[in-house]
This record gives sequence, structure tokens and C-alpha cells, in this order.
Amino acid sequence: MLFLPGPLAFADGTQVDLGAYADKVTGVPKELAGADYLTKGKYLTEAADCMACHTAKGGKPFAGGRAFKLPFGTMYTPNITPDRETGIGNWSDAEFIRAVHKGISRDGSRLYPAFPYASYALLTDEDVLAIRRYLATVPSVRQANKPLAFSFPYNQRWLMIFWSAFFRPSDGFRPVAERSAEWNRGAYLVEGLAHCGECHSPRTVAQAMDTRSKFGGGAAEGWNAYNISSDRKSGIGDWTPQQIAEYLKKGHAPGRGVASGPMAEAVELSFSKMTDSDIAAMVTFLRTVPPVSSSRQPQMAGPAPTSPVAGKPFTGTGAKIFSGSCAGCHNWNGRGALVVEAQLTNNRAVNDATAANVALMILNGFGKSSNPRAFMPSFRESYTDAEIAAVANYVTGRFGSVPSHITADEVKKLREE
Ligand code: HEC
Ligand code: HEC
Ligand code: HEC
Repeated sequence: MLFLPGPLAFADGTQVDLGAYADKVTGVPKELAGADYLTKGKYLTEAADCMACHTAKGGKPFAGGRAFKLPFGTMYTPNITPDRETGIGNWSDAEFIRAVHKGISRDGSRLYPAFPYASYALLTDEDVLAIRRYLATVPSVRQANKPLAFSFPYNQRWLMIFWSAFFRPSDGFRPVAERSAEWNRGAYLVEGLAHCGECHSPRTVAQAMDTRSKFGGGAAEGWNAYNISSDRKSGIGDWTPQQIAEYLKKGHAPGRGVASGPMAEAVELSFSKMTDSDIAAMVTFLRTVPPVSSSRQPQMAGPAPTSPVAGKPFTGTGAKIFSGSCAGCHNWNGRGALVVEAQLTNNRAVNDATAANVALMILNGFGKSSNPRAFMPSFRESYTDAEIAAVANYVTGRFGSVPSHITADEVKKLREE
């Protein structure tokens, strides 16, 4: 890459001093500046969350096989352990960099954008190589890749040439001179390494990130990944910096709700392992993301009423299930009888009129019973789709701003996610 001194004006009017930060841009936090290459590589690999996608449920780390359901079929992640036959042990550094930056596999075929290379394109070559060095030290696993189960024409990898040409930021990370070093670091992490926009942005019909509404809310594995722009109503503009930091670090922002599903996994495997200075940098950047307002994104309601009000009856199947199976932990007023994490009021998922996240939470449960602060049993086997729909609709109607109307059929689909 060429480093030019002095300010440079881009077509969109941004003034960028390439010389100011370019040599300092790296995903390695200052706490690890003196660490060895492998320690740096491990940190970067965790911050990029490579393991989450490249490990099947109950499978060996990085050996691939995790299923991703897309609108046109199912795909499985490949093996990225150092095994020379079924993994990437035989790949050259250049081939690895090309895959992570451009979404091109070793044989030249195009990879689908379920692999977040549009975000990783912003990473420096050096960071990608540090990840490569670390991956070369993880246990080798011999496990062949599963073929795509896409229907025609989506199984035609060559079509991806067009997608990639349209949707990939090809310039690498360009620091913005008027912004602080901390902001630039946060931008590198949020936009690139931690790839928040991949889940939190809508997708186009071709499944590429819709950058026009970046951070305006998207989806991941059936879950809604809410608006994280600075919009005060549908985004996180009125969260305090501490609330955002705690949510990323611990998966719970007091008074704002908990991270469940894919967000809980990202917190556990990735964000909770980042340094406080990196979390702070991400918060600094996030607070400057321009507001994307969206009427489709849930607005928040105040505390739930303690006695029935019109349109929100406390009776019926949902109410019965709630009092029998949920109120013991969540309390009848939803404010979390046992632990603060179980507060249902002022929680985005509960204010989501699709009720998708609420239904998935009831189906899947959360955590291990050995940790009572963050444990919720799975009700998958205890209730039918219709019963789960009823209690989900009860929860949103009772504790949220708009009652949901999730159907048994929709719950059935979520059960299979
Ligand atoms: C959000 C999920 C996700 C994350 C995070 C992710 N990957 Fe992947 N990756 C995929 C998927 C899906 C594919 C397969 C795409 C295809 O087959 O078209 C893939 C493909 C690859 C390939 C190509 C392998 C081959 O045999 O062609 C490499 C290399 C790779 N990923 C490395 C990484 C690294 C390194 C990281 C972390 C920096 C990472 N991935 C993070 C989902 C992910
Ligand atoms: C793998 C997908 C995925 C990635 C990557 C991801 N998120 Fe999320 N995020 C979600 C989902 C799903 C939810 C909803 C969780 C719930 O309902 O409990 C969520 C919720 C949130 C919320 C709470 C929003 C609200 O209104 O309650 C914040 C804040 C957030 N994410 C920030 C981030 C940031 C910052 C990053 C990157 C550092 C990030 N997320 C990366 C999927 C993701
Ligand atoms: C054993 C205690 C327990 C029981 C029983 C329980 N929950 Fe929970 N629930 C929790 C805890 C703890 C959390 C917060 C988990 C975390 O830390 O992420 C939670 C979180 C939730 C959330 C928030 C999800 C999100 O994405 O923000 C919803 C909705 C929910 N529970 C609904 C229910 C419903 C409906 C029932 C009954 C069918 C139920 N819970 C039964 C303990 C429980």
C-alpha cells in the first residue's frame, strides 16, 4: 500500500491524511504492542470471531461444518485447520490473504458473502497474516468439507464475480484525519475486524450487505439483529457509553436487556475477550454512526402495567404458560424476580412485533443451569408451536409496546433454524 503524506480529498469530500495514521493501523491493541506474533494473532482471530462460524455445533474448533441457512439453500463452513488435505495447511500466505480480503478460494472460485470478507477487506495484510500464523498452530483436523446445498442458479459460484464486483470495498481501511486515533481504531474494529455490520445491516436480494442502511438492523440465523446506529428511537442513540460497553463486554446492559442468540455467542467468543481500550474505541465510533431511522425497527415501551389494560389481557393460554413456567424467574411484572438479566421490560426483543427473538429464546433457552444468573431452560420439548406462539405473543403484548402476532407456522420454521 502506498502511504502519501499530507491531506488528500476523496470524491465524497472527505479529507484524509493518509500519513497520519496509516502506519499505526492494526487490530492489535496497545496493551499487546510488545507481545509475540502468535499472541497478537490469537487476539485478532478472536476479535474477528473466526471460530464461531468455522466450528459445527459440538464439532472440533475451526474444522468447519456449521450450517448456514440462506434464502436459497444451506451452506456449510469449510475446514480452516492446518490439515493439509481437508484444511488450509497447503495454502500459501498470498492465497490466504486473497480469500480473506476478496472472497476467492484457493482454486480461484468465488466464495459466498456469508463469509464476511466485505468487512475483512478493511484489514491490513499484516493483521491477516498474524491470524494465519495463529491458525497454523491450532490442532489439525481431518474433516472433508460438505458440499453446498443450494438450488440453481445460486449454486453457480461464478455468479459471485458480479456480486463481489459490486459489493466489496476495495480500498482497504482509510483512516479519517479529523477524527481521533481512538475513533479510527474503533472504526477499524467495528467495520472490519468485529464486522458488526454483517449482522446489523439489511441484506440485498443477493445477500450482500446493504451499505446504504448500514447498522440500521439486519438478521442472523433467524434472529433479528437490531438497529445499532445512533438513532435515538430505533437505534442505540440514547444508550450511555457505559451501557454499550457493558453490553459488548458482558452481554447485559443494565436497564437495556441482554444479548441472546448469535449476539450472545459473539460476546462470549469474541467481544468479551477484547481489551477495555478496544471496547471503548468501538463505543466511541458507534456513537458517531449517523442515525438510520426505520419504522420496521422496534421502539421501546416503558414499564409494564401491573394490572390489565385494554388490549393487553392477562388471560388465555399465553398468560397461563407465563404464570406457570416463566414468572418464577421473570416475575409477574417482568422486572426480573431472580436476576437483573431477566428483566423483560425495556428489552428490544420484547418490543419487536415479529417476536422472532422471543420465540427463539423460548425454544433454545440460554446458558447452563450451573450459572443461575444467566440460565433459562429450553422449552422446545415442553410446548407445541402453538403454545410457544401464544406465550411469545403474551410476553410482547404484556411487556412491550406493540403486541406481536407470531403464528405456530412461524414458530415451526424457527424451530428448524
Ligand atoms: C459469519 C461467519 C464467518 C466468519 C465470522 C468467518 N467465516 Fe470464513 N467462511 C465462512 C463461510 C460461510 C465460508 C464458505 C463460503 C463459500 O463456500 O462460498 C467461509 C470460507 C472461508 C475460507 C475459504 C476456505 C476454502 O476452502 O475455500 C477461509 C480461508 C476462511 N473462511 C477463513 C476465515 C477466517 C480467517 C476468519 C476470521 C478472520 C473467518 N473465516 C471468519 C463464514 C465465516
Ligand atoms: C453474528 C451476528 C452479530 C454480530 C457479528 C454482532 N451482532 Fe449485535 N446483535 C445481534 C443480534 C441477533 C442481536 C439481538 C440480540 C437479542 O435479541 O437478545 C444483537 C443485539 C445487539 C445490540 C442490542 C441492541 C438493542 O437495541 O437491544 C447491540 C448494542 C449490538 N448488538 C451491538 C453490536 C456490535 C457493536 C457489534 C460488533 C462489535 C455486534 N453487535 C456484532 C447479532 C450480531
Ligand atoms: C430459570 C429461570 C428462567 C425461566 C424459567 C425463564 N426464563 Fe427467560 N430468561 C432468564 C434469564 C436469566 C434471562 C437472561 C439471559 C441472559 O443473561 O442472556 C432470560 C431472558 C429472557 C428473554 C430475553 C431475550 C432477549 O433476547 O433479550 C425473554 C424474552 C424470556 N427470557 C422469556 C421467557 C419466557 C417466555 C419464559 C417461559 C416460557 C421464560 N423466559 C422462562 C431466566 C428464565
